[in-house]
Amino acid sequence: MAKVLIVRAHPLNQRVSRSMTVTDAFVESYQEHHPEDYIEDINLFNMNVPEIDRDLLDAWDDLAKGTPFYQLSDAQQHKVTLFNSFTEGFMEQDKIVIANPLWNLSIPTRLKSWFDSITVAGKTFKYTDSGSVGLVEGKKILHIQANGGFYNGSDPASQYVKTLLTFLGVKDFQQLFVEGMDHAPDKAAEIVEKAVQQAREIAKTF
Ligand SMILES: Cc1cc2nc3c(=O)[nH]c(=O)nc-3n(C[C@H](O)[C@H](O)[C@H](O)COP(=O)(O)O)c2cc1C
Repeated sequence: MAKVLIVRAHPLNQRVSRSMTVTDAFVESYQEHHPEDYIEDINLFNMNVPEIDRDLLDAWDDLAKGTPFYQLSDAQQHKVTLFNSFTEGFMEQDKIVIANPLWNLSIPTRLKSWFDSITVAGKTFKYTDSGSVGLVEGKKILHIQANGGFYNGSDPASQYVKTLLTFLGVKDFQQLFVEGMDHAPDKAAEIVEKAVQQAREIAKTF
């Protein structure tokens, strides 16, 4: 039984969101073809994802200097615990799907916070004399992104996702774009349907 995490980063559902429509198609097909697997389907917009701020930076500094956890402020304890829960939640998965819209050539800020929570020295990567080494091995990751224009993977958002996951050591990585709908509104339905079919196909063997 594989553990699968679906990380949605969209405040709206599939009625209006193309990335969520494609993700729903993936999940439906995945369930059909891997009924034994366990899927955890989360939406970051329904959760509190701690942003790296002064509380967290000070807490990490204090902990590194040997301050016991219970001596941190309540806010720091809460943020460190939450942050760590996202790190662990990522590390324990076999397969992960990350789905988001392209907003202003970037990913939603909530998703950036989530990426920060999975980029942890000593857990998902380490520093060595010859540079950083990714520690994330054996995971399969699919990135689904909806873009109004057509970029074919050249936009900074999808480049960032790819670069970061590669930095963490992920080797089995693919991206599925549903894109160009806002530049060719007359073809939007057709573009989404094509991506839905691609998602269904990928899910069969993911
Ligand atoms: C706030 C905002 C910013 C956007 N920025 C871009 C952009 O930089 N480039 C682009 O091609 N489309 C942009 N779009 C269009 C969306 O990427 C497009 O509508 C896509 O379908 C969004 O995903 P969704 O359908 O899952 O909501 C933007 C849309 C919004 C709402």
